[in-house]
Amino acid sequence: MNLKTAYLRSIFGWLEQFNYKNFRVWVGPLPYIAFVEPKYVEHILSSTQLAYKNDPYHLLYPWLGKGLLTANDHEWMLRRKMITPSFHFRILRDFLHVMNETSGRFMELLAVESKKSKDQVLDMQSYVTRSTIDVICETAMGTRVNSIEGEPSIIVEAIDTLCYVAPERLLSVMKRPDILFKCTRLYRQQEQALATLRKELAQLIEQRRAIVKSPSYINVEEVGQDEQLDVGRPKMAFLDNLLTAEVEGKPLTFQQIFEEVSTFMFEGHDTTASAITFAVYCLAWTPTAQQRAYEEQQQIYGSAKDTHPTFQELQDMKYLDLVIKETLRIFPSVPFIFRSVRKGTVIVDKFVPKGTTIVLPLVATGHSPHCFKNPHEFQPERFEMTDRNQASAFDHVPFSAGPRNCIGQKFALMELKVTLSKLLRRFRLLPAPLAKQSIADVFHPKYKPGEQELKLYLPITLKSLSGVPVRLEERI
Ligand code: HEM
Repeated sequence: MNLKTAYLRSIFGWLEQFNYKNFRVWVGPLPYIAFVEPKYVEHILSSTQLAYKNDPYHLLYPWLGKGLLTANDHEWMLRRKMITPSFHFRILRDFLHVMNETSGRFMELLAVESKKSKDQVLDMQSYVTRSTIDVICETAMGTRVNSIEGEPSIIVEAIDTLCYVAPERLLSVMKRPDILFKCTRLYRQQEQALATLRKELAQLIEQRRAIVKSPSYINVEEVGQDEQLDVGRPKMAFLDNLLTAEVEGKPLTFQQIFEEVSTFMFEGHDTTASAITFAVYCLAWTPTAQQRAYEEQQQIYGSAKDTHPTFQELQDMKYLDLVIKETLRIFPSVPFIFRSVRKGTVIVDKFVPKGTTIVLPLVATGHSPHCFKNPHEFQPERFEMTDRNQASAFDHVPFSAGPRNCIGQKFALMELKVTLSKLLRRFRLLPAPLAKQSIADVFHPKYKPGEQELKLYLPITLKSLSGVPVRLEERI
């Protein structure tokens, strides 16, 4: 049994053993307390005192440094204040253009590839990542990397390597301590990828400065821009805001810009790729939910398969909202959140000593029978039930909550809806023919994956080591 997949089995084994209550584990001499119950999750996420991050976020320091995800205290506050305007409605509208255009190219790729492949089966995980990489590079840096077209880009290779390093280190006794890590090939790969990304970004920054100064460039954050007038103008990128931002009266240094753009690229593509991929998988295995989601699309677009969604149409996709919520409950893109305790403290009724690492296993709370009926079943309708009103809001926090919640939530939901809307209109989604075990089976402690079945891997973002095979049949 592969150590990586054994890890998921152990977690679900412990959860059953502890009846989905909070539990403690020791990793060597280090205590980790996992808070599964919503009232504890609420206490922790709402507290500014418990907002401190260290282990295992430090594994990301070589790349993300003190970017928004990994920064703490005063530094984090300054950065959060500086970055919040980058997600303003008017900027998101520019990002929507990028998502619409990218998803159009993505559908063409899927149509061609599914016809070519045996039984029309594709590994959605690897295909979706190509689309989310394109979206994130264009929205973060204002540059097209054409990952969908399969054109080799050294930026994409570098990001791929860096996204791979931290999860590899997380579960490895040899690679976790810096001193041992520096003797590994993985460390050399990391350093090479970082050097490439720094060099490429330095060039892009100069190109972008020139665009931002050009007369055709409009800062949509400053001017109310009529949607009709903006055809053909350069679209805003996250980088543009960083080029003009100031922290405590000073412009950002190259290192600060590098860290923030990198954070955006790291947090913004693997997470959305995971959510889109598992939503497709869940819809493929749940024909009733797929039919309802498809009918909603038909009500909005009739038989038009390629029409780009507008902001308003995205708001109207109410059932798709439920599908996304339910997908993130069963397959949370970020399965764990961690916090480090700097001063002994009481959490609800439990004393937690200094030096403890708190784990919030969102994946466990989402599968808890104390929070959800038939927790391993995919039932989007559960989120429209009236008895949900009595549930705790903290039994479902896929984007976290409180002061350190996900700043990219609206961005992510927009990208998810644009992509899923087009997928539903263009394709019928079906399980891979050799896969026998369905969604609920995957979370059974005795689950053993067979051919074309999921091998879930949890560190950092949720993935399947065997890919996520799904059959795509083009609708006529
Ligand atoms: C389905 C997609 C996504 C999910 C499920 C998700 C989930 C989360 C979660 C759970 C956190 C808290 C992490 C922690 O405390 O350790 C977080 C933080 C964050 N996310 Fe997301 N995220 C998604 C997409 C995005 C996107 C698209 C972006 C950027 C474009 C983004 C940027 C960030 C940043 C910068 C933080 C750190 C915020 C802070 O500490 O102030 N995320 N996200």
